[in-house]
Amino acid sequence: MNIKVKKIINKKKKSKIVCLTAYSKNVASILDRYCDLILVGDSLGSVLYNYKSTKEVTLDVMINHSKSVRLGVKKSLMIVDMPYNTYRNPKVALKNAKLVMKKTRCDGVKLEGGKKIISIVKTLVKNKIPVMGHVGILPQTDKKFSFKGKKLRESEKILNDTKLLEKAGAFSIVLECVETKLSKKITEQIKIPTIGIGSSANCDGQVLVIDDLIGMSENKFKFVKKYVDISKIIDGAVKKYKSEVQKKQFPQAKHSFKN
Ligand code: KIV
Repeated sequence: MNIKVKKIINKKKKSKIVCLTAYSKNVASILDRYCDLILVGDSLGSVLYNYKSTKEVTLDVMINHSKSVRLGVKKSLMIVDMPYNTYRNPKVALKNAKLVMKKTRCDGVKLEGGKKIISIVKTLVKNKIPVMGHVGILPQTDKKFSFKGKKLRESEKILNDTKLLEKAGAFSIVLECVETKLSKKITEQIKIPTIGIGSSANCDGQVLVIDDLIGMSENKFKFVKKYVDISKIIDGAVKKYKSEVQKKQFPQAKHSFKN
């Protein structure tokens, strides 16, 4: 088993797993100092391309962003989201996941779903491709984005999906917007780590979209904490640059070449 994957699994019940998304090298190289796992999420579809749904994200786009992220990631486990329709059956999934692994040199892939994708997860794992699961809100296919686990039947289904994913060989599972008590139950009942987004502190680790955390997106989700307003900082710097260019204060002699 990939040593980095093993390290993530071993963290369960010992220390919290720190995860963030990254879509490019410069940001990824900063995150790599602090994260255990960096995810090239297909959330880049909405964050960077204003797509209405992650359904529009293509494999090529994921591969290109992942190649850039790879340049910045030295120590963290790097996982790439398989976009919608690229894992519709085991054969297609294997072909595409192999391509992603080869072109991006990532450590594994993430797939959304439970029972329906079990044969796919098994095929990838059998072919030595580490798989991260993703249950709760499934942005690629869900029509309504409200939290999961309100009703008993839904809770039982999600719990069962996580058990099936574990059995199929997934090394970890993202719980997206899963109700607090249900995320506790899942985390207690499976042996692989749960990584929460909007799923409470009960999970073994946490993930957020980096642009939400640094104030570079318009998203105002309940589960997001904005740690800095980087858009304000960029605004201030660009405003000052504009003023200095207009007033001929920039560039100075030290910024210029002379024979
Ligand atoms: O696409 C993504 O960024 C994700 C995370 C939010 C877990 O799936």
